[in-house]
Amino acid sequence: MRWSFLVLPAAIAAASAGCSHPGGGEVSAAPSSAPSPAPPAATDPNHSPPRDTLDAERYNGWKQFSLHCARCHGDNAQGTSFAPSLVAALGPAGDVATQDAFLAIVSQGRPDKGMPSAATLGLDSVYFNGLYRYLKGRSNGQLHGGRPARRDQ
Ligand code: HEC
Repeated sequence: MRWSFLVLPAAIAAASAGCSHPGGGEVSAAPSSAPSPAPPAATDPNHSPPRDTLDAERYNGWKQFSLHCARCHGDNAQGTSFAPSLVAALGPAGDVATQDAFLAIVSQGRPDKGMPSAATLGLDSVYFNGLYRYLKGRSNGQLHGGRPARRDQ
């Protein structure tokens, strides 16, 4: 009888861990390897691991792009049927060659052509620099598409 006290709770714990998490071994192993984030990301079938690691300003630029611009210019700034590619526009042969030209368009927009101003979008000017740096990195091939990682410093 005494054994049941010792064995049963362990058996229940093992069984419930196995039942509630198919492939639970992998999941429950994650917290113990938390200091190195790469292995769990690599085994996640739904999210590919980040390919770029950005400083905070540039990372926030990516975030603001995703919030305010991606719905028209595409998730990776590659353009859509509705709005042009910013990878091309900020590139060497593009229309928006300088940061000043970029900021003029972003702050004023081109309301008559379907491009809203920053104020209309609710984009704060503190993010302008990071937004430009993110898009410039996309246009010169330094940054890949997709979700980047953030370097904390
Ligand atoms: C509602 C859709 C929409 C949103 C949101 C939007 N844009 Fe645009 N954007 C456009 C359209 C349409 C054009 C093309 C305007 C034209 O024909 O001159 C454009 C043009 C531009 C251009 C000039 C490109 C070129 O080749 O001349 C830049 C730069 C730009 N957008 C940046 C941004 C940024 C940065 C954001 C987010 C802060 C943003 N846009 C959000 C629709 C949008």
